[in-house]
Order: sequence, then C-alpha cells, then structure tokens
Amino acid sequence: MDYKYLAEKAIEAKAISHPPYSNFHVGAALLTEDEKIYLGGNIETPSYSLTICAERTAVFKAYSEGERKFKAVAIASDSPDYCPPCGSCRQVMLDLCGDIDVVMVNHKDELKILKLSQLLPFAFGDKDLK
Ligand code: THU
Repeated sequence: MDYKYLAEKAIEAKAISHPPYSNFHVGAALLTEDEKIYLGGNIETPSYSLTICAERTAVFKAYSEGERKFKAVAIASDSPDYCPPCGSCRQVMLDLCGDIDVVMVNHKDELKILKLSQLLPFAFGDKDLK
C-alpha cells in the first residue's frame, strides 16, 4: 500500500478523536499485513491521566478484532509539524506490532518514515523475558 494513502487515513482519523481538554486532535491509521486499516483517535477523559493516544486506540481496536500482523502506522495531528508517537505508544506498538514503519505526516502532506526500532532503540521486549 502507498503510504500517502495511509497518511490520508490518519488525517481522516483525527475526526474520530475526542480531546475536549487539550483540543489537540491526533489520528492514527494502522496497516495490517493483509492490507486492512484500523483507525484510532486520541480519547481524553476528565481524569486526564487515563487518556489514550490515537496510536494505542488503533492497536487495541485491531487486536480486539483478532489482528496480529502489522506493516505500518501513520500518524497525523493538529501540529503543523510531524507528530512523533509518545514513549508509551512506542513501547506498546513494538510489543504488539513488531518493528513496523512509522509514517508521520505534517501539514504540508510531507511524510517522514522511520522504523519503530529507530524511535525506541535498545527496547525491553518479549526476548528479555526468556
Ligand atoms: N497524543 C496522541 O494521541 N498521540 C501522540 O503520539 C502524542 C499525543 C494525544 C494525547 C493527548 O490526548 C493529546 O495528544 C495531547 O497530548
């Protein structure tokens, strides 16, 4: 799949976010190995700290539908610049999705693509439990 298309889906996913406190909309589009796309938006709660990011929303939606193999995640936000995933999302995505491509899109529709392992080097993981 064309990552430009996946990035468009992430931009679309901002519309399903619910950030009444920060007012910062983030959208994520998670691509499975068999080319299905799961969308996620950030969802904020009045207790603030129980907020969930767009990326983890998409990952948990996909997992709860039985998906286990992934290729890439695209992320879009209200910032004019690229929106890098937070530390918690990096760990969760590496744990549950593996070393996928992370496609960030800015307001000029330019893409920045990095491997998740570049964003979270020397990470703790399943291998360390053995
Ligand atoms: N947020 C995401 O959804 N993903 C990111 O990668 C960074 C931050 C959300 C969390 C919170 O709802 C809002 O953006 C401001 O931090």
